Amino acid sequence: MGADGLKLLVAGGAGFIGSNFIRHILKSRPAWQVVNVDKLTYAGNLANLKEVSEDPRYRFHRADICDAEAIAGIFSKEKPDAVVNFAAETHVDRSIDDPGLFLRTNILGTQVLLDAARRSGVSRYLQISTDEVYGSLGPAGKFSEDSPLKPNSPYAASKTSADLLARAYFKTYGLPVLITRCSNNYGPYQFPEKIIPFFVTLLREGKAVPVYGDGKNVRDWIHVDDHSRAVEAVLLRGRPGEVYNVGGGNERTNIEITKMLLSAMGKDTSHMKFVPDRPGHDRRYAIDDTRIRTELCVAPQVPFERGLADTVRWYLSNEPWWRAVQSGEYQSFYDRWYVRKARA
Ligand code: NAD
Ligand code: DAU
Repeated sequence: MGADGLKLLVAGGAGFIGSNFIRHILKSRPAWQVVNVDKLTYAGNLANLKEVSEDPRYRFHRADICDAEAIAGIFSKEKPDAVVNFAAETHVDRSIDDPGLFLRTNILGTQVLLDAARRSGVSRYLQISTDEVYGSLGPAGKFSEDSPLKPNSPYAASKTSADLLARAYFKTYGLPVLITRCSNNYGPYQFPEKIIPFFVTLLREGKAVPVYGDGKNVRDWIHVDDHSRAVEAVLLRGRPGEVYNVGGGNERTNIEITKMLLSAMGKDTSHMKFVPDRPGHDRRYAIDDTRIRTELCVAPQVPFERGLADTVRWYLSNEPWWRAVQSGEYQSFYDRWYVRKARA
């Protein structure tokens, strides 16, 4: 795909990875425009994009990806060249409490975006999927792109459906679909319900952190900037119809992560408590990323120890960001920054 003057529609750009990706693209691609479409659910936070909000190459539309009429209107107004879909309900624990919302957003919302992309004839549609589509590993082995899909949570099942729907649009309609399946991301602006920011903010308040089950579950951690670089490469150089695994090559048990965070925060293990396990809790994820390394020459660059230390420092020096999330104040930013400005 030619990179000059591209207009990229990013769905879900006000969340953790989407906002990091938008900031990355506006820096790395000076000739691109970015149109961010986000419903601003509890996970969407416009403060994540404050530094680019005045950039003339950036525009924001508040819309639900399930709202076909609104999405069609945005596509016909903006005429994007390419689409990246980050928009989703993303927290496994919430999916256990309310699966219906996950099915609606993650499956039907994806279908609405795929239809809009097909009608407007975009040159690329990238579906951000997840390694959770593969289910759980035992102590050995890794997920390759050909591993069977065996999702275990309602979240993972909904993401698997969306992933397969995107594939079907490539096969049936020839829509130039690309799919990435990434492992666990960490970095700045992650909603403090996910383990790393949740534990940092609890420890900052002097509270104990709740480790599920025996704490020996393994995740493969990747810095969000490495994920952004991978998404950019797949968007530009990936083969339509193809799936690309993205991983950090960095497997850690939850106990290891917790101990690293305790040490970074100057706390001892009296601040760690074991709590009942998450139902259906996947034991281990590990990624074989040979395809993206060999075909697109993409590999993670941020060493975990450094990335985690920087991330902890970011949350400690951006306490007003997560305090505004905790108080709910962040949900008024849309009215304060967009609605009132439009009225003035
Ligand atoms: P997040 O929860 O931080 O952000 C999700 C964003 O989507 C929010 O801005 C939210 O407002 C928006 N959104 C939700 N429902 C919407 C709707 N109906 N219409 C429009 N916007 C809507 O999520 P994240 O951690 O940044 O994850 C982004 C994507 O990456 C997701 O698709 C997720 O499945 C995938 N993913 C995440 C990870 C991870 O470790 N966080 C790893 C692999 C893949
Ligand atoms: O693997 C990619 C996935 O990573 C993404 O698709 C999901 O959107 C993202 O939320 C993440 O899912 P996880 O379930 O792995 O992330 P979470 O931060 O919720 O949990 C990480 C591990 O930590 C998991 O084994 C559960 C455990 N955990 C989590 C929380 C919130 C705890 O032990 N205690 C906790 O309080």
